[in-house]
Amino acid sequence: MDQMEPIFSTEEITTLNTVMEDKSPEGLLEWAIEKMHPRLALSSSFGAEDVVLIDMMWRINRSVRVFTLDTLRLPTETYTVMDQIQARYGIDLETYYPEMDQVAGMVREHGFNLFYKSEELRKLCCGIRKMEPLDRALGELDGWISGLRRDQAVTRVDIGKIELDVAHGNRIKLNPLARWTSDMVWNYIKQNNVPYNELHDNNYPSIGCAPCTRAISVDEDSRAGRWWWELDPNAKECGLHVIESLDSIIAAAEVGNPS
Ligand code: ADX
Ligand code: SF4
Repeated sequence: MDQMEPIFSTEEITTLNTVMEDKSPEGLLEWAIEKMHPRLALSSSFGAEDVVLIDMMWRINRSVRVFTLDTLRLPTETYTVMDQIQARYGIDLETYYPEMDQVAGMVREHGFNLFYKSEELRKLCCGIRKMEPLDRALGELDGWISGLRRDQAVTRVDIGKIELDVAHGNRIKLNPLARWTSDMVWNYIKQNNVPYNELHDNNYPSIGCAPCTRAISVDEDSRAGRWWWELDPNAKECGLHVIESLDSIIAAAEVGNPS
């Protein structure tokens, strides 16, 4: 994707991170909205963290921007909460879809449920259905906000509250809930009566696409239900939050899975 001149230098980001580390999520959001709106948006999958962020942002500024990547394989319950959130907050949800010719080519070559066949093909599907649309969404922005938390996964323990997202053309990436726990998220939802995905009530702490998400049992890790057939916890990312190019994912799928 296109590289932009970062709006803050690496040194400024380091200083900002120190200042913001102890600030509340609302404090960080207020600062970011003042600095970057309207070239700032929340990337929302409408999981518990994202609906909290929508509520917080809406209280700061009613015209905050929210986009979603509709992979065309989302659970019905996710579309339900999308409608509920739009109705409650009056948000004009910016929805990005995959390029249909890419989806059609992928499915023709590898089948509709290719993700179960290999990690390379699963990543290819995430690449085409999520990563490429994310690049388009970010093209218009200086900064983006995500609902990542440090205690969600081994891949997320080191996230900063403010990051320079080199993989996405030097945009600023904010993780206001980095220090929050799941309990803090759920307290906020209950206290503020925020609409949430009803799958969360059925042992789905983490929700992605329907074919790649299942409920977990009590003794399982909160992300165990995501791509549950893949056992390496370090691989359980869809490409939105890792530094891996779509081109390298397409190449790996071709090598690993010749047609
Ligand atoms: S994922 O990478 O494993 O799918 P996860 O479901 O934990 O991510 O969500 C982490 C954050 O990634 C969300 O808070 C949101 O900011 C972003 N995200 C994930 N999926 C989407 C999506 N389909 N559309 C927009 N943002 C998303
Ligand atoms: Fe495809 Fe599954 Fe990734 Fe969704 S989560 S984009 S269905 S591989």
